[in-house]
Amino acid sequence: MANNIQKTIFVCSECGNEHSKWYGKCQACGAWSSLIEESRITKSSSAKKTNFSAGIIKSAESIKMSNIELSEKETRYKTGISEFDRTLGGGIVKGSVSLISGEPGIGKSTLLLQICRNIEKKILYVSGEESVSQIKMRAIRLSVDSENLFVMCETNIENILSEVDKVKPDILILDSIQTAYDADISSPPGSITQTKQVALAIIEKTKSTDMATLIVGHVNKDGAIAGPKVLEHMVDVVVYFEGERTTSFRILRTIKNRFGSTNEIGVFEMNENGLCEVMDPSKSLLDGRPKNVSGNCTVCILEGTRPIIAEIQALVTKSVFPSPKRLSQGVDFNRMSLILAVLEKRLGYHFSTQDIYLNIVGGLKIDDPACDAAIMLSLVSGYKNVPIADDVIAIGEIGLAGEIRSVSFLQKRINEAARLGFKVIIIPKRNSSNIKSPDGVNIIGIKSIFEAVDLFVSQDR
Ligand SMILES: Nc1ncnc2c1ncn2[C@@H]1O[C@H](COP(=O)(O)OP(=O)(O)O)[C@@H](O)[C@H]1O
Ligand SMILES: [Mg+2]
Ligand SMILES: [Zn+2]
Repeated sequence: MANNIQKTIFVCSECGNEHSKWYGKCQACGAWSSLIEESRITKSSSAKKTNFSAGIIKSAESIKMSNIELSEKETRYKTGISEFDRTLGGGIVKGSVSLISGEPGIGKSTLLLQICRNIEKKILYVSGEESVSQIKMRAIRLSVDSENLFVMCETNIENILSEVDKVKPDILILDSIQTAYDADISSPPGSITQTKQVALAIIEKTKSTDMATLIVGHVNKDGAIAGPKVLEHMVDVVVYFEGERTTSFRILRTIKNRFGSTNEIGVFEMNENGLCEVMDPSKSLLDGRPKNVSGNCTVCILEGTRPIIAEIQALVTKSVFPSPKRLSQGVDFNRMSLILAVLEKRLGYHFSTQDIYLNIVGGLKIDDPACDAAIMLSLVSGYKNVPIADDVIAIGEIGLAGEIRSVSFLQKRINEAARLGFKVIIIPKRNSSNIKSPDGVNIIGIKSIFEAVDLFVSQDR
């Protein structure tokens, strides 16, 4: 170690830039409080030149566009799991690098192993998290017994890449990027420098061999993908696996896709045989819905391009605390506070003496403003202890004056609600002109929250 130089560097968690001292603000990208201390030993003898091509195969000179030949048209490997293929825009693209991220225990390893079940391609599954026998046990549980599946437990990127050269897989799975490391860098695995270095190496290899690579990436406490933000810029596809570990629903969401739309989601349910596709999420979410209970209201949200019926539950009880409790699960806390404020101000409800728990059934996370009206109705219904009829669905955004604002793709939402048997559909009045009403469905256009409350909860305020 005589020639080695140890130094302390500060790496930006947003852009990955290195600084020789600490700054409150990254000198490269301007992010605040993003510098993290790392120590690094540089081997002075074997100073490595990194090739920063961000994984694109470079051509030495420019070519006329009309002379560019496509070797094959964008080849996609179908995984046989249609929810997964759909999320990626039709399958895994040859020569692409996808990052599959999500909280620990959400089912990333399970999903990736299940993918191996149906693909008749050579797959190299590299795990830095589990032993070969652990993976085998899981494979047996998931009935994965592909002849073309090779498994390796390794974290040293050099060894991983030389195994890639030997096996020549069509698909490489790296579980996870945070466990892999480059021995030339002394920062611990999972640090920003390591993650970036490993990603670069993997991307270079992927692009030069034309295999497809799936990388597992953990998320940190705040739910962001751990490691440098640049990681997301470097890969072609970023997929986020979301859901509550305690409930069985899992949603696969594309955050970035160089080969397709980011509008698609895949819905799964976790059970003892692994992840099962949920073909009709609305129906599954409504299964076993309690009838005639106050505080419940349904809405049709859009997840990407898919309409999904979600059930909102509010529990409103008299508070015994000086400052009442507020809890929201699946809905942004500030959204709930805003709707409560509108109700206080415009309708004179006194929620300040009440504890309020708001929940979306099935562990869904909603950020579609069209669910405002249903949240409002469930809060009022919970407060007054008056149930809303089971065949009612409410769609609409709420403005600060208590007006119901229009929402996108209303017809799609109405059709989905009608398909699942809802008979009364509340929609924003301004949206209602071009709407076709399905048979047997009563569509009510409303202008303000007053009307909605009058219609469904009770007359006395
Ligand atoms: N032996 C088992 N039997 C049944 N379910 C299991 C078993 N092992 C793990 N699981 C389920 O799989 C989930 C973990 O999935 P996993 O793919 O390991 O998550 P990740 O890779 O995202 O950390 C657990 O939350 C659990 O629900
Ligand atoms: Mg795992
Ligand atoms: Zn930065």
